[in-house]
Amino acid sequence: MNKGITVIILGASGDLSKKKLFPALYTLLAQERVHDMLVVGGAIEDTTSAAILADSKQYVAGPVQEPAWDSLVKNTYYQRLDFSSAADFKALARLAEKEEKKRGFPGNRLVYCACAPTFFCQLTEQSAAAGLIRKLDEKETVWQRMVYEKPFGHDLASAHTMNTCIQKLLDEHQVYRIDHFLTKDLVSNLALIRFSNCIFEPLWNNRYIDNVQIILSEQDSVERRGLYYDKYGALRDVVQNHMLELLALIAMEAPEKLEGDFIRVRRARVLEQVHFVDGLLGQYEGYCNEGSVAPGSTTETFAELYLTVDNPRWTGVPFYLKTGKCLNKRETVIHIKFKQVDCLLTKNCPSESNYLTIRISPEESFMLTLNARKPGHSMEWIPMTLEYCHSCDYKQSMPTAHAALLDAVIHGEQSVSVRFDEIESCWKLIDAIRAKQLPLYTYAKGSTGPKEAQQFARKHGFRWRS
Ligand code: BG6
Repeated sequence: MNKGITVIILGASGDLSKKKLFPALYTLLAQERVHDMLVVGGAIEDTTSAAILADSKQYVAGPVQEPAWDSLVKNTYYQRLDFSSAADFKALARLAEKEEKKRGFPGNRLVYCACAPTFFCQLTEQSAAAGLIRKLDEKETVWQRMVYEKPFGHDLASAHTMNTCIQKLLDEHQVYRIDHFLTKDLVSNLALIRFSNCIFEPLWNNRYIDNVQIILSEQDSVERRGLYYDKYGALRDVVQNHMLELLALIAMEAPEKLEGDFIRVRRARVLEQVHFVDGLLGQYEGYCNEGSVAPGSTTETFAELYLTVDNPRWTGVPFYLKTGKCLNKRETVIHIKFKQVDCLLTKNCPSESNYLTIRISPEESFMLTLNARKPGHSMEWIPMTLEYCHSCDYKQSMPTAHAALLDAVIHGEQSVSVRFDEIESCWKLIDAIRAKQLPLYTYAKGSTGPKEAQQFARKHGFRWRS
């Protein structure tokens, strides 16, 4: 239980704050994960906390518990904040101090950068100079932590510059470079599923696994995020972070403990061993007409990659990644394809592979596809699926990724923070892929991607599991 916490949101009137952060803070209050919370937000807009929260309420999943929502409304303050104004930051710090004093809060602070990564260094400098956050020893009873949304930088060099800037002002234990995929419930369960079920771990290697497919398919376009997206594209928006972190959790060696730095060390180690083999990019038709997208832009909205993990466990096992906007369906899913069994004894040659499918969205579930004999006297085989829907069974208590994330930061759980060496490896890989200037093909909205992607799969002798 954490008492007396101040959450400071820099960029409090933006989409991330309205759609994810305020509903997540509400959840922490409603589920009594936090008592006595003060929220102080700032952004460039001339608005009020009441207006922001009124807009945000629609994004709370399920029926709202009014007492918890009222408590959020009563304890949220907003002040206009120009990120380049030292005076504005000082005023925000004064507001936070005044309200903390009234409530007798000790000064435990979580400062959240809810904005584009280009501002991270500036926001850290301004926050430190204004006293919104200060360098603290890990042993002190008061904690202050700063949260940076992904992507951390736009390439390896910018990530280094940003990290150096932040590390001058804060201790590493105060820095949370977060990736909300790591706190999606089933993702945070991946290591547990692998290492606590003896039917999986002995098979989790190149003797038994044929290939791994990681798919992050979206139906939405870039919507109102053209300005940001056009500078980043699919490789930097989701592959560099979400998809490579999923790959790391699938491929890492067993950590000594399933928490904190033990997991980060393992993720970091395996990310160093990931290499690029082949890939192609795509852009949906009409992308260049989206708001704030440069005319004639060559930014990719689709990527298909063939990667390898170069260590004894994974030699010879392809890791295929596919992501795109404006595709035919919304799903995030990992398929582990097992090798075919020797079919000399059966009449079904070649026998079907077994699959373990871990579905992260829209629902969180897993499925194991096995072979069984068709009822009757025939020797015909049919695939049989064992399915467990995690999010259906725990519908009421399932926290959103951002609620779990804020909860983890408040409780000092560092596995949700991506260590800088993980970020470095991911940028090295993405920078190398971008330097190859992969071919860019167009695709129709609502399709499965460019038609050349089918040739890509054929060329490498695999089929995407649908
Ligand atoms: C974000 C990306 O990090 O993740 C978006 O910037 C993407 O482009 C989103 O749509 C996907 O996350 P989720 O939780 O909605 O699946």
